[in-house]
Amino acid sequence: MPGLSMAESGGGRDFPAKLTLQVFICTIIAAFGGLMFGYDIGISGGVTSMDDFLEKFFPAVYLKKHEAREDNYCKYDNQFLQLFTSSLYLAAIVSSFIASFFCKKFGRKPTIQAASIFFLAGAVLNAAAVDLGMLIAGRLCLGVGVGFGNQRRWMQAVPLFISEIAPAKYRGGLNICFQLLITIGILIANLINYATSKVHPYGWRISLGGAAVPAIILAIGSLAIMETPTSLLERGKNEEALRVLRKIRGVENVDKEYSEILNAIELAKQVKHPYRNLMSRSNRPQLICGTVLQFFQQFTGINVVMFYAPVLFQTMGYGSDGSLLSAVVTDSVNVVSTLVAVFLVDIIGRKVLLIEACLQMLVAQSIMGRILAVHLKSTNIMPGGSAKLVVILICVFVSGFAWSWGPLGWLIPSEIFPLETRSAGFFFAVSMNMFCTFLVAQAFLTMLCHLRSGIFFFFAAWIVVMGIFAIFFLPETKGIPIDEMNERVWKKHWFWKRYYKGSEINKRRQEIQDKPEEESLE
Ligand code: BGC
Repeated sequence: MPGLSMAESGGGRDFPAKLTLQVFICTIIAAFGGLMFGYDIGISGGVTSMDDFLEKFFPAVYLKKHEAREDNYCKYDNQFLQLFTSSLYLAAIVSSFIASFFCKKFGRKPTIQAASIFFLAGAVLNAAAVDLGMLIAGRLCLGVGVGFGNQRRWMQAVPLFISEIAPAKYRGGLNICFQLLITIGILIANLINYATSKVHPYGWRISLGGAAVPAIILAIGSLAIMETPTSLLERGKNEEALRVLRKIRGVENVDKEYSEILNAIELAKQVKHPYRNLMSRSNRPQLICGTVLQFFQQFTGINVVMFYAPVLFQTMGYGSDGSLLSAVVTDSVNVVSTLVAVFLVDIIGRKVLLIEACLQMLVAQSIMGRILAVHLKSTNIMPGGSAKLVVILICVFVSGFAWSWGPLGWLIPSEIFPLETRSAGFFFAVSMNMFCTFLVAQAFLTMLCHLRSGIFFFFAAWIVVMGIFAIFFLPETKGIPIDEMNERVWKKHWFWKRYYKGSEINKRRQEIQDKPEEESLE
């Protein structure tokens, strides 16, 4: 799938094609993109709760953790510990801009190869780290890998690709398969953490080095893939493009598809300033909804659980084993509940899922906050029953997220933009995701120390805001072909339709001006 555009893929249209090895390799690589992204999300939390790791890199946190009189809520409050998790996302945002120039100049295959080299370097640096500098450098490399992998319809952009080619009535479910891979990646990471936590003193090296496995597969896979026809045509290599297209499709007669790709490129060239276009008034509804959805997705507080659940469980008095096992339980709930979304999203629609989940997450967060306020004081140990109840509530919270804001945070931005601004708009939404992920990762442990149990009410308040947004401002997009969104969704929405009024009048004015003179005189 990497680098395949709608036209290249056949776009669901009737072009002659066989399922070739090339297409198969590309699909596997796209799947590994999702798994790897999930692995990087899941691995840091378990590692930061391991004593061997803390003692080596964060001795101050290690001492606080074992100091009975140290405040429960502040044991892990350390900017560098948070930077270990967050730096990846910062590097991803910055590098994705550089990578987009790289991709334009050198093509998609070298971009994917560069991504896999950065992933590999990151995994090796992390596994071999002897000091904090090496550790952070490793995370930054992984982030650059994500940034490079982010280019054009691969990894995070896979949802966009799926939305373009899928039939409207199955679009949601197919798209959510990408989120499913992320959740499986997170689960694998925590299963590995659970196993390696028993390997002293270097189990954490195995966990962090584990990221090398998908990176190697990606590197080997990227040797086997070809440069894509679109990318070759964009750089004027027409004959080579034709040859590659024949090879990918496994048939000789690809003329129709070839000219379709040429047309698509011509069309894309006419959109001179996609980013300026994106800012125009008539694209504002999609831009606001797409980016705000990603912002809200992160402010559900999901990554508090994904990044810091083992630390949180230890704060509540669980031992190392119990914490990691609980993380495995919540991650399994994440996978299973995402499957629920795969099956329901095209039947009951996006809005019902989002609104129901807000209620579910709100109840879970509020009760959790209350339990912590009552039972977890500065230096006591939380009663076992309450700690178990919190784990159950986290599962309730995670399942709500997993069948709503998790997958739909990716699905909706991939289906609401018109063709001219689709890539640019989706890129914006992805950047918002990365930025907010960075914020939450960098701030949570400090906020926990200062707001204490109030942190759960902080996220609960955001959930109320996003619920209101979903009810009143988010249109339903279930089953609508993506090229009909403007007419059937945005121009009819009670609030967003006002953004089209001006442009309709201008269009009309333009039509009158463009009329031949004699016609206007009549
Ligand atoms: C989010 C991630 C999150 C994951 C959890 C994704 O949709 O973007 O930030 O960690 O879901 O499953």
